[in-house]
Amino acid sequence: MTAHELVAKVKNLPPVSQAALRLVGLLEQPAVSNEEVVQILKCDNVLTAKLLRACNSPYFGLEEPVSSVDQAVFILGHQQILHIVLTLAFGGAMAVPLPRYAVEANELWQHSLTTAATAEMLVSNGLDLNVEPPVAFTVGLLHDIGKLVLGQALTPESQADIRRCITQEQVSRAEAERVILGTDHSEVGATLLQVWHLPEEIVEAVAHHHRPVVEPRPRLSVVTHLANCVAHLAGSAPGWAAYAVRVDERVVNAFGLTPDRVESLVVLARESFDRVDQFMTLA
Ligand SMILES: [Fe+2]
Ligand SMILES: [Fe+2]
Repeated sequence: MTAHELVAKVKNLPPVSQAALRLVGLLEQPAVSNEEVVQILKCDNVLTAKLLRACNSPYFGLEEPVSSVDQAVFILGHQQILHIVLTLAFGGAMAVPLPRYAVEANELWQHSLTTAATAEMLVSNGLDLNVEPPVAFTVGLLHDIGKLVLGQALTPESQADIRRCITQEQVSRAEAERVILGTDHSEVGATLLQVWHLPEEIVEAVAHHHRPVVEPRPRLSVVTHLANCVAHLAGSAPGWAAYAVRVDERVVNAFGLTPDRVESLVVLARESFDRVDQFMTLA
């Protein structure tokens, strides 16, 4: 079955706020005004209500209560608003257990938020990758979204075949999915994001997060790949150790990533764990 067929087959994916998707679409633009962000958010009453509740939560510790979207965007800024909106928009969907992936409730969500925070850290003060932090956060958050689709579409038989392939061939989960299904969660996730009309660079970053594009120039998938690996090495989703991924050699060479350098990135990633746990409570 192709990635498109799989996405079409899975009918009961939770609906995602159109306003949240439009906000992600703005990441393509070089400059975004407060007014544009406010106008998009105001189209979604439910999201607006949740956003205001989140802004007034103890996590942000604001002295004055926030009572309007305009105020929220003005006080917290685009980047923080995007974090909250993505958390509210995808938290419910990604917090579900995925028995076919041996993933308990909240594990995929925690891993996705950790990868998002790690991706943001990598481009803010880790590596010179010429990527805006909100873009990095977004691709980190969405990188494994294809697992929501495959988690529902996989039959017990194909799941057993994938597990056998991992053990016998000593390959990663993504490779085993390609062998057994002819596609993997990266491609399926990217297809879903295409259906949602998200920017092409975000689709690419999700599509290739296990096989990053380094030549002729590193693409956004390098950020997603590295953030995912560093998040795993930092101990995100410990139960997934068998599927843990190694940093692609081409990425290691392109960025001169010595083991010490990777270890320092892992230490930085661990610093986000507490923040991620608190952020999960906002959704
Ligand atoms: Fe993945
Ligand atoms: Fe991942």
